[in-house]
Amino acid sequence: MAEIVSGKVVSAKVREKIKGDVASFYKKHGRAPGLAVIMVGNNPASAVYVRNKHKACLEVGITSYEITFDENISEEELLAKIRELNADSSVDGILVQLPLPKHISEERVIETISSVKDVDAFHPENVGKIMIGNYTFLPCTPAGVIELLEHYNVQVEGKKCVIIGRSNIVGKPMAHLLLERNGTVTVCHSRTRELREIAKEADILVVAIGRANFVTADMVKPGAVVIDVGINRLSDGKLAGDVDFSSVEPVASLITPVPGGVGPMTITMLLKNTLSAAKMHENNR
Ligand code: GUN
Repeated sequence: MAEIVSGKVVSAKVREKIKGDVASFYKKHGRAPGLAVIMVGNNPASAVYVRNKHKACLEVGITSYEITFDENISEEELLAKIRELNADSSVDGILVQLPLPKHISEERVIETISSVKDVDAFHPENVGKIMIGNYTFLPCTPAGVIELLEHYNVQVEGKKCVIIGRSNIVGKPMAHLLLERNGTVTVCHSRTRELREIAKEADILVVAIGRANFVTADMVKPGAVVIDVGINRLSDGKLAGDVDFSSVEPVASLITPVPGGVGPMTITMLLKNTLSAAKMHENNR
């Protein structure tokens, strides 16, 4: 039987520390760190994420600016708003909730956000820095996974790490972070041959493929650490991860549930990035 990771417990612990650090920041600089979250349109899933981000900011003392645009806003209007926030010294972090409507280029939007306010770490400059290992911000989800591994004393060095999924948001940066910790990293994706066999060699298996219950017990080495980044909505309305939890849990040594595993860590890492940005901005004034 595996130990079940509590993203809630780890998240609460990290948020408590951030709250203390935000209070010290306020004492020292006479202002709170500020995060601007922009949402375009009314995608219901995005609305839930944005609301949760806002609430989390308030809980730790970060000032949150919620900016909502109609989905017909032009790309130029959105870029103008981003430029205004880039120049606003009360705003330390800028996050544009994705996905965006089809007529707006996500690439242009991301590149317009100042790299020193890019708390998602999606800007090409920040992505490049992660590759070199000399970064300011880490993308929230992979950073949350690392924080969980550290909390549960999972050693990465020398381990076979297999990542299923190669997205820019999770799979690719995850590979760099595990490599930086001296793991031996394999990235699998939809075209990988013998994916099941490769997965079964993993000491640490990170799954971010976006397919409900994709990883089954026969793909997991006994005693492996299994990290499930997936959140899939099933037809009955229930949430499921990318890992078939009930079959894999007896095989693994440590496993993250969905919900309550990686999910709670993501917003926590956003708070951490916003605080780091604020400190950096004050140091550079
Ligand atoms: N949409 C889903 N996840 C994310 C995220 O981490 N950042 C942003 N900006 N949009 C998202």
